[in-house]
Amino acid sequence: MDLEGLRCRRYLIRFDTRELPLRWSDVLVIGSGVAGLTTAITAAEHGASVILATKAAAEESNTLYAQGGVAAVLEEGELLGDSHAKHIEDTLVAGAGLCDEEVVRAVVTEGTEAVRALIDMGATFDRAPDGSLALTQEGGHSAPRILHATGDATGHEIERALLARARQHQRIRFLEHAFCVDLVTTGGECQGALVWDHGQGLQFVAARATVLAAGGAGRVFRETTNPQVATGDGLAMAYRAGATLMDMEFMQFHPTTLYLAGAARKLLTEALRGEGGHLVDADGARFMLEVDDRAELAPRDIVARAIVRRHRETGGRGVFLDLTHLDAAVLRARFPGIDRLCRSYGLDFTREPLPIHPSAHYTIGGVKIDRDGQTEVPRLFAVGEVSCSGLHGANRLGSNSLLEGLVHGRRAGARAAALAHESHGGVARLALETSEVRPERRVEIDIDDVLATLRAETWRNLAIERDGAGLEHVLDRLAFWSGYVLPEVFAGPRGWELQNVLTVATLMAQAADARKESRGAHHRLDFPAPDERLRRHSQVRRPGGDA
Ligand code: FUM
Repeated sequence: MDLEGLRCRRYLIRFDTRELPLRWSDVLVIGSGVAGLTTAITAAEHGASVILATKAAAEESNTLYAQGGVAAVLEEGELLGDSHAKHIEDTLVAGAGLCDEEVVRAVVTEGTEAVRALIDMGATFDRAPDGSLALTQEGGHSAPRILHATGDATGHEIERALLARARQHQRIRFLEHAFCVDLVTTGGECQGALVWDHGQGLQFVAARATVLAAGGAGRVFRETTNPQVATGDGLAMAYRAGATLMDMEFMQFHPTTLYLAGAARKLLTEALRGEGGHLVDADGARFMLEVDDRAELAPRDIVARAIVRRHRETGGRGVFLDLTHLDAAVLRARFPGIDRLCRSYGLDFTREPLPIHPSAHYTIGGVKIDRDGQTEVPRLFAVGEVSCSGLHGANRLGSNSLLEGLVHGRRAGARAAALAHESHGGVARLALETSEVRPERRVEIDIDDVLATLRAETWRNLAIERDGAGLEHVLDRLAFWSGYVLPEVFAGPRGWELQNVLTVATLMAQAADARKESRGAHHRLDFPAPDERLRRHSQVRRPGGDA
């Protein structure tokens, strides 16, 4: 399914690489979550010099906030009846016909070694009293295979361990609070990126291989579990640079985030339901029993839709996660972070049901890559949430994404380092790259206002339940805003983020409009069933390519 795409400029800003301060490395990694750090460490271990650029402090990433864990089949799991075959099957079932089976097989089987290597690197996962890894089960998994750390702080622990290793490595240099504005291409080949920071302004980071690991785009939506940095910059940059984006209609909505006026939409991990938590409506009815045999542990899309409907049917009086029937001491020990979170808002999760609502959680679509993370743009790789490898299909199985970041980070890091070694002297053309974009300020733009309005629109019309009329409406609004926001030349990250969010939202809406069926995380009220003829990926490239 090839889509027409959004017409936009190749570069957001005017530049001439000959006039910019130059930094140089074999491999440039953009982003510092699990995938970016793993790529950087692997490339450095393969002898490459690495610059890791990230728009905030290095630890700030979607990885840091991952609670539930990392899914992997280890010896402990095998003793409990688990196997690679079962993990593969669960992933394929969740993916609703759009997974690439070879990719699933590779990630699941290589995942065992990748997780072992992470443990060897110093990541500490929770253990049972006998010393074996404590594995738990989540929705869609047919066996206990989820590793977690400090109960509900798995991402934090993985980020800590990887960051410590990366910071020790002599061949890795960090550029923190450094915003990547655009990838630089010459003749269609990626040569590095334009990077901006407050101290030095614009710089050119040249590299023989560039790896996008810039995460997802939850911030396209008003309600999201994602931190503020998740504005889809990597997706938009890759699109402008001529990469193919795949399956952009598929965004995963997590069923349970804390829903309090004014509070951030903090994740309430699925493991709470794995532990026995119930979803109840304002009258205390456990409505998931009517919806699916798996009740609260049905796939996320089914649970998220059921919550939204019950909320609507009960006049907006709320839906709640009820843990009050579970052992309070066990809950506090298993979920210390959530305990702290609830207390900070004056709630006791062992004594009162928590108000919840679904929120945008994981960007399933992304930059199309091959098995080594190579995109369709030579010398440009993508890994982790920014990429679309075919692992997740139409719906990601929970806790598979940290695993993917580890496996693809290792693959892409090794391949990028090899490419750098193969191509000495391949940067002579760099000095010639320019963009003639001219500032043409025509209107005053209140960036926060456009963003807030856009996010409200996408939440209403591009979220859990979609239909043709709503998608047309949101596309119309996005086109209107694009008409005056995209031609603008902004001088700093807030404006560039707005342009990226607009770009990504438009690509998501176009893809959602084109997919006239329901599949996985993409649900159309006007086409409520899957259509076998549409069981294929959607793909989009910027009209105009590298020009
Ligand atoms: O519910 C969770 O803890 C989320 C896990 C995931 O998205 O992988």
